Amino acid sequence: MRVTTRLLATVLAGALPLAAAVAQQIDPAEVTRPEGVALHDAATAELEARGAELFRDTNLSTNGMACASCHADLAQYRDSFAEPYPHAVAMARDMAGLDEVTAAQMVQLCMMVPMAAEPLPWDGVELAALTAYVEAERERFAETR
Ligand code: HEC
Repeated sequence: MRVTTRLLATVLAGALPLAAAVAQQIDPAEVTRPEGVALHDAATAELEARGAELFRDTNLSTNGMACASCHADLAQYRDSFAEPYPHAVAMARDMAGLDEVTAAQMVQLCMMVPMAAEPLPWDGVELAALTAYVEAERERFAETR
């Protein structure tokens, strides 16, 4: 009995900091475009094509996930995704305390939360490409409503 209690205490002591880390909030500054920094500019079709590739790229995450692991065939989006950006998103509010987000911010949030990775460089082609792809996904999603 005593051994069981001690074992339980050890397990709990190990599990609690883990639970705290999982519930940790994202610093909103990490998913907010710095003032004076613009997204990489290129032709929309070019960015969307690159975005479609990156959407399936598991190298973007640290946990083997690609965006498409969750979002293939418009899966796992909620009603908010039918609205033009910026708009309110539950994950953005819960994880970063943001009342509304742009498409680029949503890419950065999913990079940090489900993909367990660093946010992408704000002026890089990857963020611009995924943002363009997400904008196109949003239109396809809205059409299904
Ligand atoms: C492990 C699953 C998972 C992965 C991987 C993932 N997401 Fe998400 N994503 C979600 C969930 C869950 C939501 C719904 C969040 C909400 O509505 O509160 C979401 C929502 C979104 C939204 C829509 C938010 C809105 O309503 O405007 C976009 C855009 C998005 N993700 C982009 C991405 C991109 C880009 C990647 C890859 C970099 C990615 N996601 C990877 C789970 C995932």
